[in-house]
Amino acid sequence: MTALDRAWWKEAVVYQIYPRSFNDSDGDGLGDIPGIVEKVDYLDSLGVDCVWLNPVYESPGVDNGYDISDYRAIMDEFGTMADWKELRDALHERGIRLIMDLVVNHTSDEHAWFVNSRSSKDAEYREYYWWREGRTPEGTGLDPDDYDTPADVDEVPPNNWDSFFGGPAWTYDDQTGEWYLHLFDERMPDVNWETADLREELFEMMEWWLDNGIDGFRMDVINLISKPDGLPDGEDPTAIVKGVDKFTNGPRVHDYLSELHDRVLEGTDSMTVGEMAELSIEEAKRYVGEDGDGMSMVFTFDHMRLDMTDAGRWSYRESSPRELKETMTHWQDGLADEGWNSLFLNNHDEPRQVSRFGDVGEGYRRESAKLLATVLHTLRGTPYIYQGEELGMTNYPFDSLDEIRDVDTIKNVRAAQKSGQLDEDDVMDLVRYRTRDNARTPMQWDDSEHAGFTDGTPWMPVNPNKDTINAEDARNDPDSVWHYYRDLIDLRTERDVVVYGEYDLRLPEHESLWVYTRTLETDDGEDTLLVVLNFGNDETEFEPPADLVGESAEILISNYDTDVNAVEQTTLRPWEARVYDLA
Ligand code: NOJ
Repeated sequence: MTALDRAWWKEAVVYQIYPRSFNDSDGDGLGDIPGIVEKVDYLDSLGVDCVWLNPVYESPGVDNGYDISDYRAIMDEFGTMADWKELRDALHERGIRLIMDLVVNHTSDEHAWFVNSRSSKDAEYREYYWWREGRTPEGTGLDPDDYDTPADVDEVPPNNWDSFFGGPAWTYDDQTGEWYLHLFDERMPDVNWETADLREELFEMMEWWLDNGIDGFRMDVINLISKPDGLPDGEDPTAIVKGVDKFTNGPRVHDYLSELHDRVLEGTDSMTVGEMAELSIEEAKRYVGEDGDGMSMVFTFDHMRLDMTDAGRWSYRESSPRELKETMTHWQDGLADEGWNSLFLNNHDEPRQVSRFGDVGEGYRRESAKLLATVLHTLRGTPYIYQGEELGMTNYPFDSLDEIRDVDTIKNVRAAQKSGQLDEDDVMDLVRYRTRDNARTPMQWDDSEHAGFTDGTPWMPVNPNKDTINAEDARNDPDSVWHYYRDLIDLRTERDVVVYGEYDLRLPEHESLWVYTRTLETDDGEDTLLVVLNFGNDETEFEPPADLVGESAEILISNYDTDVNAVEQTTLRPWEARVYDLA
């Protein structure tokens, strides 16, 4: 056997916690860190190896913590630094690592750097952000009426870039009569990585967290940090967010990330996972490959785009299981020899996976949740479980826009309505399907009034299906989605082939079956698993690939009762998932 290129983060299962919605210990309706401490034994019993904590830093909360006003302090509502240390220790005592969200493309406008930066043109921290003069409108193609400027200012911004949250990426600031850049909300100004002192402060902040015992970082929108010289207009006429062709994977991003790696991460055995929309495999290798910037892995989003048209997030198209299989296979193959995949089908920015890719309408919620779990835990890469996924939690039945809290949904929907892209009739269907708030309703611990999340009034409504979908019931039911996750996690711990085995797609043309083998050369020969997944509500004939027919095999895990001793032709039941161990 060739020695495996082992790493703890390849073998780990990561559990993502959105603190606001996980568990409230003090009855204010918002989850908090002591609330997470109360649930550490829950995480331990599920068997996860690492927790990724969404931002808990001091923040005015415009984007639920992705707008940081102090990187070295904990938001009051979430607790104190002492609480955070208690959580860190409670996790570490159980052998669970902790990674923190690193948000360094932007800060809050309440961060001391920005407060100083906006105060005058020669302020000490002016160059920590992107300040530019406006342009006269002539010849720019931009209309001054589209921007919020004082009546006597007849200007348009320095370029045509849009914000991901809808509307322009520039805001005019009265105090100095210049515009500042924000790729997200106007209260989240982008920092300027060109400024060496800024980079140094960020690196020191990262070192401070590592000195405080964390095990790595999830790096927010990290491929946006380098902006091109001269900040040119976006030129891609099809881009939904104008400028994305200019500021994504920008010219110095690899210099910055290699510097960050050499300066902060080298020799620490920490893991990093970079969030990167708009990424090809070739580009991904520049971040995670052998000659890359030293990142452990990336979150990519091709599979999260399958149900959108070219009009982007606020559109819908029906996608097929085959497209999902092909897209994920593309990444499995692409990073097979170099780099490493992260495996997820939902997170705090996406709807619930069982509502999106499984079945919640015709009675197969449980089966389809288990099938999706099988995919995530038997592909090659590191699986991420988003809180509540292990219960098969579903989207929330939102009735009206008034129930939506998410700044991204609200702003984008308004912008799409204004431009005529969405009319009133389409809006609620789409919001119900797509909003990030689907992922942010409280964790369902039990069937009590607020699902055991809080004694107060929850900041987001609890899904009424908490009566049947909750952790307490799931743990008492050996056939639950929860126990299935436990079994999958155990399997990963027991069998190297699950982590390191080569992925090989079989029956590529099949419309609803996703079939693959995972193979690992060992000292004792070859260890092979065969994974067979029936994506859909219909029964499907499985004709095994000819070379596998008759191979002796047993079922390692399945979401139906199944007993086999060989790979044979068979009829698979709706959403049936089987992992065969080929002897
Ligand atoms: C990606 C995060 O996951 C999302 O929640 C946030 O709104 C944006 N980055 C901006 O930080």
